[in-house]
Amino acid sequence: PVEELVAEQPKGIILSGGPSSVYAEGAPGLDPKIFEAGIPILGICYGHQLMAHLLGGEVAPGGQREYGHTNVEVIDPDLLLKDVASPCQTWMSHGDLVQQAPVAAMADTDRHLYGVQFHPEVQHTPCGPQILHNFLYRACGCTGSWHPAAFIKQTIAQLRQRIGDDRVLCGISGGVDSAVVASLLDRAIGDQLTAMFIDHGLLRQNEAAQVIATLGPRLGNRFVAVDASQQFLQRLQGVTDPEQKRSIIGETFIRTFEAQAEMLGEFRYIAHGTLYPDVIESGGGSTATIKTHHNVGGLPEDMRWENLEPLRRLFKDEVREIGTQLGLPEEIVNRQPFPGPGLAVRIVGEVTAERLEIVRAADAILHQELQAAGLSERLAQSFAIFADLQSVGVMGDERTYAYPVILRAVTTSDYMTADWARIPDEVLASIASRIVNEVAGVNRVLYDITSKPPATIEWE
Ligand code: XMP
Repeated sequence: PVEELVAEQPKGIILSGGPSSVYAEGAPGLDPKIFEAGIPILGICYGHQLMAHLLGGEVAPGGQREYGHTNVEVIDPDLLLKDVASPCQTWMSHGDLVQQAPVAAMADTDRHLYGVQFHPEVQHTPCGPQILHNFLYRACGCTGSWHPAAFIKQTIAQLRQRIGDDRVLCGISGGVDSAVVASLLDRAIGDQLTAMFIDHGLLRQNEAAQVIATLGPRLGNRFVAVDASQQFLQRLQGVTDPEQKRSIIGETFIRTFEAQAEMLGEFRYIAHGTLYPDVIESGGGSTATIKTHHNVGGLPEDMRWENLEPLRRLFKDEVREIGTQLGLPEEIVNRQPFPGPGLAVRIVGEVTAERLEIVRAADAILHQELQAAGLSERLAQSFAIFADLQSVGVMGDERTYAYPVILRAVTTSDYMTADWARIPDEVLASIASRIVNEVAGVNRVLYDITSKPPATIEWE
């Protein structure tokens, strides 16, 4: 209800994009009275169409779906497009269009109502930050007072208050998210924290050893490492469906935690490094479920601990800033994200010990070669994927019938959209030749040249 929204005293409202068409049954809508409430509103993609629809415009299917880069020409910058160079590159992802105005942006400056057909919030709209800045600072009167230091202080205080004298078990993956959660808890509650690293056997080469060597000394006897690789492999036997893999891994994680926790005494809370993109992409709210991130949707409902998710409202770049402020080592803060279900979602088909060996060895070669070429820092993520399909090859005059390895490397800062990385041919050539020569069972190397959307970063 409009009254409830207004009572929250928002400085502005952003109507986000979404998978529906405004005419679809059950499509998200809102009371048009909101447009008279004096609150600046920015509609993005679906939000832009919804505004046009509710304000008397006509929205119709665009005929052709428009995905990817589109250049927008700024004819009248008005407030929203102020200081945006023309033409500006934008990222589109939609089917429907606002009919009467075959335009990429619209404004009613008197009522501070704005709409854009493209996505200013993704990295592949370089002028997006300026547009959001214009909306937030010029239309809404925001001042930008969020800082990592303020977040740390506030979160520590909130955690202390919520946890009281209880104990918290924090899952550690070795990545930046869970390390930041553990550090916040370390500062907030000290000895009431136990951090547990479960090696599910789905990690990259030498990763488990590295995690133990880095975090063990920092957390001392509050750090527990468990090797559960055999249990995970057993439960994944015969499973090929990506969502089923995720749910088995999520469940096995918790069961392992529970079994280990029995030995460590009573805990009231379990802490996770859930980020906002995990929440969105797991279908939080009314977005479509793309994939269930194992630290969100894969958790069994009968879990006996209360959840603590202090990073639930943050994006990766913000978490990295916080990690740096907390004094975490550079190799953790800037480490490439790695999915919770690990290599299981980088093996298309059944997960077996042999396939894990293949994908690990190929992944290690990829990283060595990228490092040697000085490319690692420029890539947000780079990894190898094993695919359960065989093809014919010839090696040393012998016929081979073996598996391909697929290489994926992307650039992005928000992980909601991504572009495939333009790796020089000669680097790809040496990676491919090393993989085929050094990894038994592989006779082909493919490079994935799809952006997100329409693909996702991981293959499953
Ligand atoms: P996608 O594949 O959805 O990935 O484009 C976006 C980012 O999320 C990571 N990812 C996961 N992280 N649990 C996680 O903690 C998961 O189940 C999961 N699945 C994907 C992925 O590596 C990328 O950085």
